Amino acid sequence: MSQKSQNITRVDHRIKATERHSKNGHRGGVVWFTGLSGSGKSTLAFTLEKHLFDKGFQAYVLDGDNIRHGLSGNLGFSESDRRENIRRVSEVAGLFAEAGIIAIAAFISPYHEERQLARKIGGKNFVEVFLSADVEVCETRDPKGLYKKARAGEIKDFTGIDAPYERPEQAELVLDTGRLSVEACTEQLVQLIDSRFRL
Ligand code: PPS
Repeated sequence: MSQKSQNITRVDHRIKATERHSKNGHRGGVVWFTGLSGSGKSTLAFTLEKHLFDKGFQAYVLDGDNIRHGLSGNLGFSESDRRENIRRVSEVAGLFAEAGIIAIAAFISPYHEERQLARKIGGKNFVEVFLSADVEVCETRDPKGLYKKARAGEIKDFTGIDAPYERPEQAELVLDTGRLSVEACTEQLVQLIDSRFRL
């Protein structure tokens, strides 16, 4: 990593957060999904985005697989690369929130410390949603065939197999995606966002 930037001075925006919020009819914020591969993060994130869009919210999904094609295209799945991935996304999600948009972040985000960082950067309008389907359920689903590859030793450092996942302890919402339908989860999410973000 190159050395830290020097000689930099922050410049203030001329539009207040409250002005952005009243224009949109809702606060900006971050909805942070965490959970194992196959726990339903992308499915729920994109379903939620569509529901919110239809209800007039400004919302945008930041999804692990997509972000790893661009912003985090130079990162792999070592512990330090995952931490850097989440640090970058936390900053981006924070900027969306500042811009008055609801960022829906869908990342395994296996480490407690970086989820705390995301919360800190996201500010007071941050909600963490833990998709709690356990590894047995996710492995049975195996929508991308990745667990099979991990078991065969073709993928190293696979979360839940030979890389850790630290379960959240302070999530605002826990959804047992091993049992609940997409519709039932989406209903709870829309209710939470309506109550937390709508003006
Ligand atoms: S992390 O840990 O938060 O940085 O991971 P994330 O950016 O969410 O990327 C997870 C997606 O990458 C694919 N993939 C892997 N996941 C976990 N472990 C390993 N080793 C791995 N290799 C590739 C996989 O498609 C993950 O997507 P999801 O949607 O979670 O299944």
